[in-house]
Amino acid sequence: MGIEFFTRLPLHGETEFLPGDPRNRGDWAKIEGVENTGAVSNYQLGDDFTYIDYLGQVARAAEINGFAGALMVNSPSGEEPWTVCSLLARETRKLNFVTAFQPYHFSPYNAVQSAATYQRATGNRLVWNIINGGSEVIQRQVGDNIAHDDRYERATEFLDVVKGYWHNESFHYQGKYYQAEGGGLKYPLNKAQLPVICTAGSSEAAREFAAKHADYYLMRAEKPEEIAALIADIRARAKKYGREQIKFGLSIDTIARRTEQEAYQEAQRFLDEAVEKQRLNAAAAHAGLRSARVLSFEKEYAEKDGARKVEDFFIHDNIWSGFGYIGIPPGVALVGSYQQIIARIEEYNSIGIELFFLAGYPHLEEAYRLGEHVLPHFKTQRAKLERTTTEIKSQVA
Ligand SMILES: Cc1cc2nc3c(=O)[nH]c(=O)nc-3n(C[C@H](O)[C@H](O)[C@H](O)COP(=O)(O)O)c2cc1C
Repeated sequence: MGIEFFTRLPLHGETEFLPGDPRNRGDWAKIEGVENTGAVSNYQLGDDFTYIDYLGQVARAAEINGFAGALMVNSPSGEEPWTVCSLLARETRKLNFVTAFQPYHFSPYNAVQSAATYQRATGNRLVWNIINGGSEVIQRQVGDNIAHDDRYERATEFLDVVKGYWHNESFHYQGKYYQAEGGGLKYPLNKAQLPVICTAGSSEAAREFAAKHADYYLMRAEKPEEIAALIADIRARAKKYGREQIKFGLSIDTIARRTEQEAYQEAQRFLDEAVEKQRLNAAAAHAGLRSARVLSFEKEYAEKDGARKVEDFFIHDNIWSGFGYIGIPPGVALVGSYQQIIARIEEYNSIGIELFFLAGYPHLEEAYRLGEHVLPHFKTQRAKLERTTTEIKSQVA
């Protein structure tokens, strides 16, 4: 099975220490009344460098070290990812950028036109992660009042229309959310490739949407057997649409070090800080804001009261849920020696994961560790991202 590696850029600030700690890099770490001591600008107007320059440095480190792309998470409180993709595209040579957005952020034609321009300028290096919101509260805060399942219905139409516009010069569509009366990409914009499409979410509605439209279905890390079950379910649903080729991606952090002991020490350092700052079980504290499924390792946090040791948070060999417990998303990390990390990646790969999003703290340094010690192991297996959906060539009436 092929394998490809992307990293994730920290659009909410770097996290060498707990989120918000003033020793972290850039102005994301600023706390009222506390001087930021991390490197990288505090963003005063006139500063030579900004936090985006740091993101650029991580992106360059990622491509120099053999990563094929970088995931950018979209949250209303973070840097806007498509803008960051545009800012960094010309600072990088080969890196693909995955921008996450919700259908309500753009009209279908606006998304098509922006992507076509981006693709032409960068040699088709844009990937889309179509998201639909993980919290009703936040959706309403930012002005989207459509209910959870309806958002996926809207997203399904959105991509019908996007694909229709992309592959037809005169596209017609009458839907519940969108209508089109003859628009479509024309020469030379239509030379660009439609971005590869990713999505995530494990609700019924999310699974059906992915089955119909996604080239890659993305997951947060869980135990390998849980991931295998999710893959089987999505594959079965995709088959209904004649799409046996759908592929799978996994987002997981890493603490990759020369020895297991060094990796455990680094994980313990995070836990100790969280104990000291009373930031334990931070994930549970935010659970009310989230509509997404509670994963099994998150349910186990309730029994971890008083847990203080790295060893208390392994859910499988080298698969560590401690980050979630102290409020560092996505919550699960591969913790171990380079050899152990390679073995776990192989295990996830053997059950169907072909795209890995690996990141660690600080992102810059971990890109080098992974690039020097983990990625070379997979050199002969690397497989470029590819479309798995069929194109909508004919007009949809
Ligand atoms: C790899 C990955 C990346 C994600 N990126 C984002 C993101 O950038 N912004 C966001 O709001 N949600 C993101 N999500 C969350 C999902 O898109 C989705 O909202 C969540 O899983 C809940 O969906 P559900 O309620 O339909 O199960 C991501 C999920 C995964 C697995």
